Amino acid sequence: MKIGVVREIKADEYRVALTPAGAHELAGGGHEVLVETGAGEGSAFPDSAYAAVGARLTDADGVWSRAELLLKVKEPLPAEYPRLRQGLVLFTYLHLAASEELTRALAASGAACIAYETVETDGHGLPLLAPMSEIAGRLAAQAGAYFLEKPLGGRGLLLGGVAGVAPGKVVVIGGGIVGYNAAVIAAGLGASVSILERSVDRMRHLEEILSGRVSLLMSSALQVEESVATADVVIGAVLIPGAIAPKLITREMVSGMKDGSVLCDVAIDQGGCAETSRPTTHSEPVYSVDGVTHYCVANMPGAVPITSTKALTNVTLPYVEAIADLGLAGAVSRDPALARGVNVLDGQITYEAVAEAHGLDYRPLTELLPTAAA
Ligand SMILES: NC(=O)c1ccc[n+]([C@@H]2O[C@H](COP(=O)([O-])OP(=O)(O)OC[C@H]3O[C@@H](n4cnc5c(N)ncnc54)[C@H](O)[C@@H]3O)[C@@H](O)[C@H]2O)c1
Repeated sequence: MKIGVVREIKADEYRVALTPAGAHELAGGGHEVLVETGAGEGSAFPDSAYAAVGARLTDADGVWSRAELLLKVKEPLPAEYPRLRQGLVLFTYLHLAASEELTRALAASGAACIAYETVETDGHGLPLLAPMSEIAGRLAAQAGAYFLEKPLGGRGLLLGGVAGVAPGKVVVIGGGIVGYNAAVIAAGLGASVSILERSVDRMRHLEEILSGRVSLLMSSALQVEESVATADVVIGAVLIPGAIAPKLITREMVSGMKDGSVLCDVAIDQGGCAETSRPTTHSEPVYSVDGVTHYCVANMPGAVPITSTKALTNVTLPYVEAIADLGLAGAVSRDPALARGVNVLDGQITYEAVAEAHGLDYRPLTELLPTAAA
């Protein structure tokens, strides 16, 4: 199969959808890999690294027009819509429920569109989202420690303390992938860490894997209020799948927080879990409300494209190989997780939540591809 990789044109996006190592695997499997010149630069992969493993470097027109399977990181932007066409398989993050315009453009193009974020295992795992949550959680602990520094508007506290001086206190709300990773890094820095969770099963699991290094507390309105009042860093990491984040931290609770403390609201991409949170960017990551530094960057993994690109491509490559080796129909017949990733096929919306979000007709994938795994 001809597999194309284009340079991302979205502002501040430095990731690329395939590493030279991935290109090497695909070329070794007998596929033709077309990479747009400069596509890997933002992630420190020069063109020469792709050329060395047998990929062909060309311009954007060359990749889009010749590829049968096109790999991207972000959704196509309007400038890219005219390049989509019948017969093309597009594999990328799409987040279609958030954009009717993009959903209609993809359907009108006739391309088959698979969304990374809806590839879902039988156990409800989201394997192509998980690495970004791991990175965001780890970055949140780092950002918390950094913005506690006095010249940056923080309390002026070293999160880990030193011998004879108590460490800072980190409260993580939500003990999923983000929360676990934030807690591990904060504990590693020497902070005193608690996780507030509402799933007892999840807390039992965390207890086991964290071996007592972190306190685990049942999340309730009262517990949140008490915990944030004494915290130096609060990390918001809750998720209710498919819903906007619950506002667990009220404006009053924020006013009651310590002056110069830091609130990292990682859940900001789902609206945030504090009433005072609003999205920020890497160029202006923080703002202050009642003396509390708010860090609410909506695309945190974008800060570390080298790590994010490698982590993303580690998990996408097996799916790319399956599509390349078996074709889309063959790959989705064999793998129900990949079948759940197909959002648009032959002009039809094949992902129910996306169709519902925009009041469009929904066609189950199995109606269009009868062999697809249900
Ligand atoms: N800002 C970014 O760049 C970025 C990057 C990755 C993920 N995220 C976001 O981070 C959030 C967390 O993602 P995740 O992958 O860790 O999700 P996850 O599903 O693994 O974990 C969420 C956890 O929140 C818990 N929870 C739900 N309601 C709660 C409550 N009231 N109190 C305490 N805990 C509660 C759940 O039990 C679950 O364990 C999501 O909103 C995700 O979109 C943001």
